[in-house]
Amino acid sequence: MIVLTIAMVCGLYICSFCIKQISTRTNVGFSNFQVIKKPCEAPNIEPWEKVYVHYPKPKTYSRDECECNPVRYFAILSTQRSGSGWFETLLNSHTNISSNGEIFSVKVRRSNISTIVETLDKIYNLDWLTSASKNECTAAVGLKWMLNQGLMQHHEEIVEYFNSKGVSAIFLFRRNLLRRMISILANSYDQNAKLLNGTHKSHVHSSHEAEILARYKPTVNLTLLIPNLRQVEEMVAKALESFKSTRHIILYYEDIIKNRSKLIEVQDFLKVPQMDLKSRQVKIHKGSLSQRVENWDDIEKALKGTPYESFLHEDYKI
Ligand SMILES: *[C@@H]1O[C@H](CO)[C@@H](O)[C@H](O)[C@H]1NC(C)=O
Ligand SMILES: *[C@@H]1O[C@H](CO)[C@@H](O)[C@H](O)[C@H]1NC(C)=O
Ligand SMILES: *[C@@H]1O[C@H](CO)[C@@H](O)[C@H](O)[C@H]1NC(C)=O
Ligand SMILES: *[C@@H]1O[C@H](CO)[C@@H](O)[C@H](O)[C@H]1NC(C)=O
Ligand SMILES: *[C@@H]1O[C@H](CO)[C@@H](O)[C@H](O)[C@H]1NC(C)=O
Repeated sequence: MIVLTIAMVCGLYICSFCIKQISTRTNVGFSNFQVIKKPCEAPNIEPWEKVYVHYPKPKTYSRDECECNPVRYFAILSTQRSGSGWFETLLNSHTNISSNGEIFSVKVRRSNISTIVETLDKIYNLDWLTSASKNECTAAVGLKWMLNQGLMQHHEEIVEYFNSKGVSAIFLFRRNLLRRMISILANSYDQNAKLLNGTHKSHVHSSHEAEILARYKPTVNLTLLIPNLRQVEEMVAKALESFKSTRHIILYYEDIIKNRSKLIEVQDFLKVPQMDLKSRQVKIHKGSLSQRVENWDDIEKALKGTPYESFLHEDYKI
């Protein structure tokens, strides 16, 4: 009788234990079934392109009907006063491009490689919300990054990040470094002078404002002229060399001004549908370079016979 009772109790115990296990297992299976959705079907792309195609899942919102639209990552790598502000407004006029501005102009974000990676991860996961973000239907997301904003300082790790995460680089430089230098001098003068009714503007939206800013003619320091030009040239060459293993395109401000079909090349590079891109920005320093500076004759003398002589002549009419 005792043996029989023990056997019965044991049997009941094992039985209830099994039922518990079965029920938990089915529960887990059921909730899994609800969470897993059909993965997005990869578009018809070449195998080498796979690493550049992403389906981010932002933490703060849902991509809704565009959930399965592929997203590409990019970064505009440039130098100050090279037309990158203008170029970015052109890109952002596209319905499917979100370029989030000069995010690393804020020092804490570039204090070390971990803060840089953290910031990039957030941008590329579409969780960085600025006026530029198109959110759910973004097909290309990126930022504008100056070479001197931690980019060259941490270039090895950043190249590794770009190659492993599939980030494409858009280099944007200016061919005429003398024009760029004059633009820098005028812009830094305005930081103190604040010519537009007491506010400093680096970019303007009306020809009236552009005219006021262009009235100021800087004087170029002749001692620094050639060393400065050489330094910028070397910095650009070093950047191109460091990032040559990434997928990239090299653009020059002057070429885009002369031929807007360059912008089609950029859209093809980002694999977004082709659109007519527009910017409301107005160019500040128009016309001949000799009218833009105080000491043109001295500059001309200093650059004659140097590798930079062509900067004196290369002008464009708009
Ligand atoms: C990186 O910088 C951030 C912010 O300045 C700091 O909190 C963090 O400890 C730093 N990390 C490393 C690994 O130095
Ligand atoms: C571009 O955005 C529109 C709506 O804003 C969307 O319908 C379209 O699918 C997007 N295109 C791509 C390639 O993501
Ligand atoms: C400065 O302010 C005056 C009056 O408020 C306005 O008419 C003028 O257009 C402004 N100028 C610029 C350059 O913004
Ligand atoms: C040019 O720059 C050098 C070095 O910064 C400085 O010593 C010199 O005074 C400057 N010359 C003029 C005319 O401002
Ligand atoms: C503009 O650039 C495109 C290629 O980007 C080229 O095919 C075309 O000939 C250029 N047009 C002019 C006027 O230079």
